[in-house]
Amino acid sequence: MLPEAFLNELKYRSDIEQVIGGYVQLRRRGRNLTGLCPFHSEKTPSFTVYPENQSFYCFGCGAGGDVISFIRRAENLDYMEAIRFLAARAGMEVPESQMDDTAHRLKMRILEMNREAARYFHQCLMSPTGKAARAYLVGRGLTKATVTRFGLGYAPNSWDSLTVFLRSKGYTIEEMTAGGLAATGKKGGCYDSFRDRVIFPIIDLRGGVIGFGGRIMEGSGPKYLNSPDTPVFKKSRNLFAMNFAKNTKRGELMLAEGYMDVIAMHQAGFDNAVAALGTAFTDEQARLLAQYTDTVVLAGDSDGPGQKAVRRNTVILEKAGIKVRVLTITGAKDPDEFIKKYGAERFELLVEGSKSALDFQIQQLRSRNDVTSAEGRIAFLQEFVRLMAATPSPIQRDVYISKVCRELEVDKQAVVLQLEAALKRKRSGEQKKEARDLKVFTDRDPAGRMDFERQRSPKAALAGERLIAYLMKNPDQVSRVATSVREEQFVSPMDRRLYQLVKERLLAGQPADLFSLSGQLETGEMDRLSAILTVEGGQNISDAEAEDYIRVLQQVGTEKKPEEVGKMEDDELRRYIASLTANKK
Ligand code: UTP
Ligand code: MN
Repeated sequence: MLPEAFLNELKYRSDIEQVIGGYVQLRRRGRNLTGLCPFHSEKTPSFTVYPENQSFYCFGCGAGGDVISFIRRAENLDYMEAIRFLAARAGMEVPESQMDDTAHRLKMRILEMNREAARYFHQCLMSPTGKAARAYLVGRGLTKATVTRFGLGYAPNSWDSLTVFLRSKGYTIEEMTAGGLAATGKKGGCYDSFRDRVIFPIIDLRGGVIGFGGRIMEGSGPKYLNSPDTPVFKKSRNLFAMNFAKNTKRGELMLAEGYMDVIAMHQAGFDNAVAALGTAFTDEQARLLAQYTDTVVLAGDSDGPGQKAVRRNTVILEKAGIKVRVLTITGAKDPDEFIKKYGAERFELLVEGSKSALDFQIQQLRSRNDVTSAEGRIAFLQEFVRLMAATPSPIQRDVYISKVCRELEVDKQAVVLQLEAALKRKRSGEQKKEARDLKVFTDRDPAGRMDFERQRSPKAALAGERLIAYLMKNPDQVSRVATSVREEQFVSPMDRRLYQLVKERLLAGQPADLFSLSGQLETGEMDRLSAILTVEGGQNISDAEAEDYIRVLQQVGTEKKPEEVGKMEDDELRRYIASLTANKK
């Protein structure tokens, strides 16, 4: 097996859009790209690339997968050859495989150790040693429930209290330093990294404690101290509170600057807030966000550096295909202070306000295109029309079109015609998508056309597949799902195997995205999985929907054929109906 760190790096350096772009001429279509399929002959493009989850799928022939499976097909290579091919392209060396086992074991140890440490810090906060820290958090307006929800803690004012505790739990100094919890001094002695600080555990999407942030309460030293990058923690790849925000019912996610901003926002009901971890926001973090939302509201600090970060982050997010809105905070330094000063309702108004900030978006379009040149003006108008087509209110559209046409001295009628065409395209696109959803189980279902069980029980098959998609995006839910459904309850053999694979990887603490699964899936399985993730509604499944799917699957095998029901005695029939209704609840 290849080391996860290598695969992560390879994945990051093998952007699917760029790799496939070398084979297929791609055109942007909204968030995705389309082109002529290289795997079957066609005249109109049905081959689609999805940058947000780094996958592709062809509606014509049903070929789909990640970047590795694309290369396997395009170059006719096996898995390892494709890895070498991509590594060479990215200028990386493929590592020898032995180390991986030890590396994996160390990771699992660090994760367990971090969990112990988080528990320890939390207990310290709640005990007499944590009195000042508790007062500090109360002073910053946090409730007990918030402290518990975020698992906040306190690192005592001591050089060795955590190291002594962890040693008593069987962890070695090497493991503690590898995990960033202890450091060795000049004389070889070892001491706690976090001392006399309020502790913010950082939890990843799999529910693992991957690192910590610690805030000083008084005295000198850096305000925040963060875990260094460790075998389980890459700052550039994770976001604080993403474990909560991914479940938000609000459509968009909000990006703030600091731990305290995020916590205050969650406490005020904005459970969609996340923050980068003590470093500048990265492309990888943008891609992570893109998997969960198409819109991000930037809630940066109101000072100069904060506004500079907003501009920088806008570029990064838009590159990842995310729509950006900007929240303008006035009268306070940051979201935390704003909420404390003016309350949650006023903050909600700011969020609402960012929605109608068409002015801002238009401004941005203008700053990206040089409207003094003819070319720039055309490019600007194209994007402007797209923006208008996405604006639901006709009155707003009219106001902005008039304004822009006046400013640029272009004919309003021409722009209106373009807008009408764009709206028509959009409507027919939406209708087509609906039709596609309905046709999933009919004749044009390339990825599953030979699957008899799937055709026979479409509802259960769909439930199973959506549940697989849900798991891939919510790895922290794996134990809940695994205890509720068994492999046998998946109606088609292929889905059964996909479920088993995803489940086992997640339970073993391994990632289970398309890229990581690539080595273990047959071509046909890869096709199916990417179809599930992209075109069959597997994109954004809520916890409640997942519950429904679990119930559907739990019913598999318990439902009787009509002729059997006909033969039932009264008592039996009553029980049977009761069991069906119970299942439906
Ligand atoms: P800020 O200085 O804006 O702090 O840093 P804040 O979030 O408002 O914190 P409070 O309200 O004073 O407690 C924003 C983020 O930058 C990182 C942290 O992630 C912090 O949340 N940072 C800041 C550090 O990593 N180290 C520092 O010394 C300061
Ligand atoms: Mn602050």
